[in-house]
Amino acid sequence: MLRFGFDIGGTNIAAGIIDENNRLIAKDSVKFPRGEGTDAVVAACAEVYQAILDRTGAAPDAIAGVGVAVPGSVNPEAGLVIDAHNLGFHHTPLASLLEAALHKPVCLVNDADAATLAEHRIGALKGTRTAMMITIGTGIGGGLIVNGMLFGGGRGNGTEPGHMVLCNGGRHCTCGIDGCAETYCSATRLAKDGAAFGMSSAKDVIEAAKQGNPDALELFRAYIDDFGSYIASIVNLLDPERIAIGGGVSGAGSFLLDPLRADVARKCFFETCPEIVVASAGNDAGIIGAGLIIS
Ligand code: BGC
Repeated sequence: MLRFGFDIGGTNIAAGIIDENNRLIAKDSVKFPRGEGTDAVVAACAEVYQAILDRTGAAPDAIAGVGVAVPGSVNPEAGLVIDAHNLGFHHTPLASLLEAALHKPVCLVNDADAATLAEHRIGALKGTRTAMMITIGTGIGGGLIVNGMLFGGGRGNGTEPGHMVLCNGGRHCTCGIDGCAETYCSATRLAKDGAAFGMSSAKDVIEAAKQGNPDALELFRAYIDDFGSYIASIVNLLDPERIAIGGGVSGAGSFLLDPLRADVARKCFFETCPEIVVASAGNDAGIIGAGLIIS
């Protein structure tokens, strides 16, 4: 049977069909209708779902179910998005709303958990028993592989590594707490810091740093210092075999990873560090992972 995956982000809703071999065989996206309410989000999902089915000619009966990745904490049993601050969803019964619109069983998953599942099944974490994935985008997400399985949290709440407090009383986070790792290690941090120097995105800062712009280099150095502290703390807690870094900023490749590895090596407790690699399942990892949760 085919499976359908959604990756709902604050900018776009990406979606696609995953075949029996875990391959994404068709995909599309629509803009996230920011500020227009839950019904508009459900309508946008229904629209892209139908568009993909129409385009591929896939019969609705061929779709076993729909996995939905969201950037926040979820209760899959209750079908609730508990808190997805970057979407404005709080205790939203998204699964039942989508089931009514799509006429398919719907299962929710955290977006970074979905990406981690995809990396573990087909990407950079394949074969690992203890590993971590960190996604760097608007926020910081992460998923944990323990004993070769995605760790769902001791009480079923999953993990929220982006909201580990990196700096007491530090930068204000969208979750309402000050000092979360997300406010120091996300693309949003680079974009905010860059704005003071006329650079409007994380990509701009990284490109300018690559060109040797002294302001951008200083911003990037400070970013690596914070990100390195964060990753070293994760290493000290878990002693993972491998850490995969995904999300937009990971596109900087060795420009990011070389100084990051050196910083983590300096700060980590152990004599040797685990491998730190760029995620390889690509931008579609969220859609694929969402599809993979449908059994
Ligand atoms: C959310 C996470 C999510 C991450 C990436 C964070 O702000 O709390 O649940 O995985 O952003 O989207």
